[in-house]
Amino acid sequence: MIELVFGKRGSGKTTLAKKLLLNYENRIIVDPLKEYHGLITHSVQDLLDHYKEKGRFDIIFRPLNDNDSEYVFSLYPLGNITFVIEEIDFYMTANNIASDLSYIIKYGRHYNINILGIARRTQEVNRLLTSQANRIWVSRMQEVADVTYFQKLGFDADEIRNLNDHVFIHKDF
Ligand SMILES: Nc1ncnc2c1ncn2[C@@H]1O[C@H](COP(=O)(O)OP(=O)(O)OP(=O)(O)O)[C@@H](O)[C@H]1O
Ligand SMILES: [Mg+2]
Repeated sequence: MIELVFGKRGSGKTTLAKKLLLNYENRIIVDPLKEYHGLITHSVQDLLDHYKEKGRFDIIFRPLNDNDSEYVFSLYPLGNITFVIEEIDFYMTANNIASDLSYIIKYGRHYNINILGIARRTQEVNRLLTSQANRIWVSRMQEVADVTYFQKLGFDADEIRNLNDHVFIHKDF
């Protein structure tokens, strides 16, 4: 399952994601902006040590550097992991994606890997990601390019322009 949450800054993305992540098991919460509370690790080695000890993840990952930041996605062969990825656009541009993340997006289903990804705008993430999403959430948007994008996905443009604060709507694909 790939589930994505889009919304302007402060729209309530993280608040929603904290509810949605309860639907998943064995989560690694990639939290570069320190928005989550709980058990925290800062390196992939510490993540692995935790996994060996507990037999599961359910832990927050706050990478200290860019290398470790992408390296976390190389854990996918362990299987049955949900990556909750705040600021998922850190790991991609419109033209490029961190390679292990790209692999997970394409083939993660075979390892039972889920992604719950959070970003501000669809324009900031790669089309591979949005094309493979099973569910997309969005809150109020006004920028024409954003509204048009969601309209093309089948959302109602006026509904998106007029959503109340902190309200998200979703579509399944
Ligand atoms: N459903 C809600 N009802 C009331 N307040 C909410 C709701 N969702 C979020 N908020 C409040 O709005 C503020 C921003 O929420 P949150 O941090 O979830 O947004 P965000 O989109 O993740 O922000 P950022 O873009 O900075 O990461 C917080 O103070 C939060 O308590
Ligand atoms: Mg947030």
